[in-house]
Amino acid sequence: MPSGKKEVKKVTTHVLQEMKRNGEKIAMLTAYDYTMAKIIDNSGIDIILVGDSASNVMAGHETTLPITLDQMIYHASSVIRAINRALVVVDLPFGTYQGNSKEALNTAIRIMKESGAHSVKMEGGKEIKDSIERILTAGIPVMGHLGLTPQSIYKFGTYTVRAKEKDEAQHLMEDAKLLEEYGCFAIVLEKIPADLAAKVAKSVRIPVIGIGAGGGVDGQVLVTHDMLGMNTEFSPRFLRRYMNLYADMSAAFKNYIKDVKSKDFPNKKEQY
Ligand code: KIV
Repeated sequence: MPSGKKEVKKVTTHVLQEMKRNGEKIAMLTAYDYTMAKIIDNSGIDIILVGDSASNVMAGHETTLPITLDQMIYHASSVIRAINRALVVVDLPFGTYQGNSKEALNTAIRIMKESGAHSVKMEGGKEIKDSIERILTAGIPVMGHLGLTPQSIYKFGTYTVRAKEKDEAQHLMEDAKLLEEYGCFAIVLEKIPADLAAKVAKSVRIPVIGIGAGGGVDGQVLVTHDMLGMNTEFSPRFLRRYMNLYADMSAAFKNYIKDVKSKDFPNKKEQY
């Protein structure tokens, strides 16, 4: 057998459904580049999301709207080259699937063909039914995304908690059931009350992955750069920081600058 790569049990959409049935929580993180994806995959993550949050995190845009399909494909290809085990999900960028289902299918096909990704994610419920169904008929697995959907930020006006009112909560519950009926393999619920998220997770058979949606769902997702503490500005209540990399990296950069300026680096052993 050709050696080099370790034989691992790959995470598929079926594995995720089995995890939900067995009550095993699903762990998901974002990645946009090869190096980060490799570390995350080797750590044993179940799902890697090439999120359109790359628009904020990698490119410094205020919203997720400006990122293009070509840019998403670039990020997804870099991630795919690093992956051995995780299921890779790629966000369809804003404006590439809401117009009509044919355009949505072309977008999804380009992502799958050009990056080698395993599935796509789309924001919305009933209003994107045709696009979801057309993509699914091509054999491309679709993850849904409800609650706070950042591509609609100009409609919402703010990034505050969604579905606190009865009407919106009812609407979200209906959308979740529809996404399951259309054939989505999982749903992300972003920034909604924990009780509502738990109710949704109980009412559908597909895995529900939360971000700011409490612990009563089937799994959790965070933006990797946030959970590593690489920025200091973004501190929502739901964010648990596992490192303070902003401080640690700043200290390393300052030490390097000091060593260069003082001629301490490179020393005799660090040259040829
Ligand atoms: O783009 C992204 O990172 C996301 C997560 C916040 C779920 O959609």
